[in-house]
Amino acid sequence: MLMNNSLAVEEHLVSLVAAKPPEFEQYLTLRHQIDQARRRTGLAVVAVTSATMGDGKTTTSINLAGALAQNRASKVLLIDADLRSPSVASRLGLEKMNELPGLADSLADSSIPLAQIARRPPEFRFSLIAAGRETSMSPGELVQSTQFEELMKQAREQFDYVVVDTTPLIPVSDARVIQQFVDGVVMVVAANKTPKRLVGEALEFLIPSKVLGIVFNSDDRPLKEYYSYYSSRPRRSPAPALSAR
Ligand SMILES: Nc1ncnc2c1ncn2[C@@H]1O[C@H](COP(=O)(O)OP(=O)(O)OP(=O)(O)O)[C@@H](O)[C@H]1O
Ligand SMILES: [Mg+2]
Repeated sequence: MLMNNSLAVEEHLVSLVAAKPPEFEQYLTLRHQIDQARRRTGLAVVAVTSATMGDGKTTTSINLAGALAQNRASKVLLIDADLRSPSVASRLGLEKMNELPGLADSLADSSIPLAQIARRPPEFRFSLIAAGRETSMSPGELVQSTQFEELMKQAREQFDYVVVDTTPLIPVSDARVIQQFVDGVVMVVAANKTPKRLVGEALEFLIPSKVLGIVFNSDDRPLKEYYSYYSSRPRRSPAPALSAR
């Protein structure tokens, strides 16, 4: 998927590297499930969420977009809708996109259309809408705006597949709101990390018919349960270190 080898990507963004490790298989399986749902129901827009912070939502979103875009005939759009802790652009080495109009800008100002915020980085086979810049509206207000629904409509018209990276379900309501505007939701569970109780609690926030499946992200480094930190987290503060206990 990575078309320009001069750009270094993290090794667990497996769908973007030329030599695919075994972990890539699960994204192919997910792609297959999404393709089948597309044939059956016309599914096109998929949100990726999880119970808490650091479960692997962004990793999964990027890898899923990469897997879907392997089919050169498919037009794929990846949207960073985690307006509280955006990381897609920087994870892809595209930090400069954070200075340009992105999702938040268009949600706050409906005169900014999708065509102005969706960019196609030459290194990748998918287009990207970065989270955008700070606006006078809060992330919660932005995702509830009617413009979010309008942008999703435009995305659906212009792309075959849209992958939406979101916030965790338990600490904040953004992903619960966003699920209304998407066709399906992928739930990420950090294998051996996300407590079962929280997975159950998170699933209760989802509309059952929208849940496409669960992806187990097998990052086996220990993770502090720090999701309570999220609620008081100012936008764009640095991510807490995922340090070993
Ligand atoms: N399979 C993996 N192997 C190694 N590291 C991983 C893996 N998945 C995720 N990570 C690392 O764990 C951290 C959290 O992953 P990621 O950003 O995908 O989670 P997230 O659920 O999007 O987090 P947030 O809730 O902060 O948005 C990142 O630093 C990422 O590099
Ligand atoms: Mg994330």
